[in-house]
Amino acid sequence: MNKVEITDGVYWVGAIDWNLRDFHGYATPGGTTYNAYIVKDSKTALVDTVKAGFFDELRSRVEAVTDPSTIDYVIVNHVEPDHTGSLPRVMEVACDAIVIATEKGAEELPMYYDCDGWEIQTVKTGDTISLGAKTLSFVETPMLHWPDNMVTYIPEDRLLLSNDAFGQHIASSKRYADEVPEILEEAATYYANILMPFSTLITKTLQKIGEMGLAIDMIAPSHGMIWRNSGVGDILEAYRGWGSAESNDTAIVVYDTMWGSTEKMASAITQGIIDAGFEVKVYHLRKSEWSKIVREILGAKILLVGSPTINNGMFPSVGGFLTYLRGLRPKGKVGSAFGSYGWAGGAVKAIAGELEKTGVTVVDPLSVKFVPGADDLTACAELAGKVVMQARQI
Ligand code: FEO
Repeated sequence: MNKVEITDGVYWVGAIDWNLRDFHGYATPGGTTYNAYIVKDSKTALVDTVKAGFFDELRSRVEAVTDPSTIDYVIVNHVEPDHTGSLPRVMEVACDAIVIATEKGAEELPMYYDCDGWEIQTVKTGDTISLGAKTLSFVETPMLHWPDNMVTYIPEDRLLLSNDAFGQHIASSKRYADEVPEILEEAATYYANILMPFSTLITKTLQKIGEMGLAIDMIAPSHGMIWRNSGVGDILEAYRGWGSAESNDTAIVVYDTMWGSTEKMASAITQGIIDAGFEVKVYHLRKSEWSKIVREILGAKILLVGSPTINNGMFPSVGGFLTYLRGLRPKGKVGSAFGSYGWAGGAVKAIAGELEKTGVTVVDPLSVKFVPGADDLTACAELAGKVVMQARQI
């Protein structure tokens, strides 16, 4: 196995999960990677490990660089098992290694693993470990996206080992972002589905990193591709925009339908949005990947959600999607609810309530009895116009 040296003395030793199709609810049709790095100097550090089941791949890559038993430090930037699942097996081989984690990380590790016999040292922002010519410098990033998170910075290499931040779920034989087309799109989908609830914190953390004056030539996350050259500026700028909820003149229409009435309303609303001058994207919730819809919502100003009433409430697909979306807390959206009903409504009111709890500004929800007629379809187009007018004020 060839070594993959990303900068002088720093090696990628991760694993490629070609077959992952779901990451706790986030669809990953392109798989993912679990990136780990060996930093080799007078002393040797392993930064992060890989998911359980991928230890042999990690071990083979480490062995191409160094004898695993000589690892002095194992840096646990984040305890989530996709990065620590192989830690117990690593510690069987690197039995003299010291585990480095934040205080929260050190609290969490024994809840996942039998840590008897491990030496665990805690670090906080500003702490450093010298490996010889290279220094590991730690910055805590709590709630990005667990309480334990931190990142590791190597000032001599201007290299940020950022764990989940700046990652993407994509499996590839390539290692660098500039080698993979549409990589920013992958990063956006990852941000929307994992990091969007923490946008305010992300903005503050980027400011903190700026204030600390960390010069960065390379960002090596623990999922997906490594950012180098102009890609570093690109991903930092993208995070700044996503973190501050920058959005385009775009509307997202999502819906489900029973006998086609709500779908007719969705079509009339869609045309109304086009006529009002916004771009629009439309998704049937049982035919579309929710992770992709959420990515589109990240950059849109408008969200309209439709469902027929079934058993006095909304369709299960719509309810499930709204539950997923509420947890992700998108910011700065205007929207509405629409749908058809037979003898008693319920879905539209329930959707409007969920959108409001999610933080969406809801404009004039619209219900139609049984099948929409010409006047109803005109009302749909008018609703679209009102929502666009409100969104233009954002
Ligand atoms: Fe990639 Fe939060 O784990």
